[in-house]
Amino acid sequence: MNDRDQQTSIDDAKLEVYRRVFYASPDYISFSRLDGTYIDVNPGYERFTGLTRAEMIGRTSLEIGIWPSPEVRVAFVGALKVTNELHGFRTSLVNFRQEIRDVEASVNLAEIGGEQVLISIVRDVTERKRDEDELAQHRDQLEQLVAQRTTDLRQANEQLLDTNRKLEQAHNQLLQTEKMASIGQLAAGVAHEINNPVGFVNSNLNSLDAYVRSLLQVIQAYEDHQQVFEQYPQDLQSIEAVKTEVELDYLKEDIFTLLDESKDGMLRVKRIVQDLKDFSHVGAVEWQLADLHAGLDSTLNIVTNEIKYKANVIKEYGALPPIVCLPLELNQVFMNMLVNAAHAIPSFGEIRIRTGVQDDMARIEFSDTGSGISPETIKRIFDPFFTTKPIGQGTGLGLSLAHSIIQKHQGRIEVDSTLGKGSTFRIWLPLQQVPVDKIAA
Ligand SMILES: Nc1ncnc2c1ncn2[C@@H]1O[C@H](COP(=O)(O)OP(=O)(O)O)[C@@H](O)[C@H]1O
Ligand SMILES: [Mg+2]
Repeated sequence: MNDRDQQTSIDDAKLEVYRRVFYASPDYISFSRLDGTYIDVNPGYERFTGLTRAEMIGRTSLEIGIWPSPEVRVAFVGALKVTNELHGFRTSLVNFRQEIRDVEASVNLAEIGGEQVLISIVRDVTERKRDEDELAQHRDQLEQLVAQRTTDLRQANEQLLDTNRKLEQAHNQLLQTEKMASIGQLAAGVAHEINNPVGFVNSNLNSLDAYVRSLLQVIQAYEDHQQVFEQYPQDLQSIEAVKTEVELDYLKEDIFTLLDESKDGMLRVKRIVQDLKDFSHVGAVEWQLADLHAGLDSTLNIVTNEIKYKANVIKEYGALPPIVCLPLELNQVFMNMLVNAAHAIPSFGEIRIRTGVQDDMARIEFSDTGSGISPETIKRIFDPFFTTKPIGQGTGLGLSLAHSIIQKHQGRIEVDSTLGKGSTFRIWLPLQQVPVDKIAA
């Protein structure tokens, strides 16, 4: 065999392979002229159209009716005109059962025997597309599910955070109440310890007063008999010298001033001790019948140092019967109200305490001429840890604690405030509320 013959036989072999590929391919392969008439189609295409090769050759795709609608064909031809080639173009065709199938078409232009020929390979991807669509649907469902789960989780988390906040609040209130109880006990203990010495110093001062008066009487008696000493001028002189040295005349006057001052001081100590006792209300962790005015007064005395440079306190007490309450805790509320009022006053102002009975409720009102509270702030003042005061100065717990103490008493607390004018905190407590079994015997 010469080279040329060898080449021919290789080409023949290749052609045979291509022919077999053309026949065996499940895809729908066709050659057609530019006007769309089929030159040849493979068995795959026959199976799709239900027509024989002979029935298709010489006719166009339009004539054999594989386009579901003219628009689909227009879109296909349009796409082909732009590039002269198509790769994996998605469109739809009608099969021999008149079913619309999703197909992927690849078309390219070739020159065969001096003529332009369109080679198109079409693959049915209906199942693949359905799978893809199903997958996409599954993915969407999954995404929705994940989104739902995320929302659920976020909600659960928020609930948890909220519960946590409430727990923290409860914990703080407990701490604060416990702290107050122990301060109360401490105060009661100190008051008790001081009570004893105060008692004997007081009674000693009274005895001392009487004794000094007696001593001065004795001295007076000697002075009344001065003429006796005149016979002994030298002795008289030394007596006069001592009298001058100790400034007896001044001493006689001053000694009673001193004693009076001391007695007054002791009275004040006694009052402080009494206030401490009232304030701490020994055993007041229990419900008991208490006079709110007494509580207000003892609290005022305790915080007087904190407010006396900031405000005049004006008491407008009405008639209030004793009510069943937790006096120590109410005192703490009163204290928070008074201290807050004093803090709100920039230089010097007025704090008014009004009390009275209205609709079976006890009303205790604290008005100040302080800075007032803005509407945005007022919404948050009862929140635990909310404070407008610098770090270290405010804990933000005063009002939240007051609120829960008042709530425990089945009462309520209201605020009126005008920015720049002042604020009024109004506490309402039921006159009759607590079941008898809660009242301490
Ligand atoms: N009488 C008042 N006048 C103006 N603002 C007040 C008054 N009482 C409370 N407030 C505001 O409410 C906030 C919370 O008060 P409180 O709970 O007692 O915490 P704190 O006093 O530690 O800041 C204060 O920081 C203040 O802004
Ligand atoms: Mg406060």
